Amino acid sequence: KIVHVILTGGVGSRLWPLSRKSQPKQYLELFEGKSLFELTVARNKDITDKVIVVGNVDNCHLSKKVMDKFQTPYVNIVETTPRNTAAAIAFAAFSADPDDILIITPSDHIIDDMDKYNEAINQAVEKANDGFIVTFGIVPTKPETGFGYIEYKGENVLSFREKPNLETAKNFIAKKNFLWNSGMFCFKASVLLEELKEFQPKVYKKSKKAWENSTDGTLDLDLSLDIPSISIDYAVMERSKKIKVVPSQFVWSDLGSFESVYDFLVAKGHEVDTNGNMTIGTQNYTAFIGMKNTILIATDNANLVLQKECSQDVKDLYNELEIAN
Ligand code: GDD
Ligand code: MG
Repeated sequence: KIVHVILTGGVGSRLWPLSRKSQPKQYLELFEGKSLFELTVARNKDITDKVIVVGNVDNCHLSKKVMDKFQTPYVNIVETTPRNTAAAIAFAAFSADPDDILIITPSDHIIDDMDKYNEAINQAVEKANDGFIVTFGIVPTKPETGFGYIEYKGENVLSFREKPNLETAKNFIAKKNFLWNSGMFCFKASVLLEELKEFQPKVYKKSKKAWENSTDGTLDLDLSLDIPSISIDYAVMERSKKIKVVPSQFVWSDLGSFESVYDFLVAKGHEVDTNGNMTIGTQNYTAFIGMKNTILIATDNANLVLQKECSQDVKDLYNELEIAN
């Protein structure tokens, strides 16, 4: 079976105040009335036999509402507390059959050019069947520090480096044999679990226990709190020798921060002034004086004025704010 696993635990804190705890960015119906979550399901529905949604208690009703529009059989795995992507993926792998091929995707990416997407998926499924853990590599356009980098030769991965600092990222870009990690993965359930067991035995053991003691797909809070919080990138991708890459040509954008939203909107023809300033969420005439590359994000009850280059810092603000909900 080919199983599509959708990770939807994130609150999209770097897109506050557009994205809220009660309405994370992947459920905002910003794309011709559809959300990124819905587009993610639709994009993969013809290639998958089943969907596993791994999300949290606050958003599972939002996922369910979307899943009910589709015919594909699906299960909801409900986290009572986020334990990061290594655990989230482990739950999905434990719930699947060992030989199932899992296609892991985030729920919050923009992807275009379906022919190239399907071609990449087909290649990945083939390699996953051969026992490899497959990543999808995107040609980088700038030294972004919020991504993982894949050093590659053909389909082989020489090294995987999650979120390097700016200097290192610049080096990687200059070397030209690095791709961005798209955040999508493809592997056999059993293969991923073996690697997790080897490199993060504690995550493996505690996730297994939590999964075995879950009730109708809902994880127990205390057992979950015991699982180390680490992303799959640090836990497995940086260490495993079984990683392959499918260098991919489809259009890809992680709308992870306002900087990437800005780039996306500029490409779509959204207005910016001569100094690169932009407003999001308001039609009001807005003047910027003495500012460059500033973004004003306006919502009903909160505004953010942001220097574009500081987009990664919104997460810290979110974490400090009580009104983030
Ligand atoms: N269920 C669940 N539980 N999902 C989670 C959790 C969790 O605890 N934490 C994160 N997720 C979901 C997010 O909602 C998102 O869809 C996906 O997992 C990836 O998490 P992010 O937090 O968005 O990761 P990232 O953007 O910092 O980095 C990853 O994606 C980049 C590309 O967008 C890495 O894989 C990077 O290497 C990659 O370049
Ligand atoms: Mg992300």
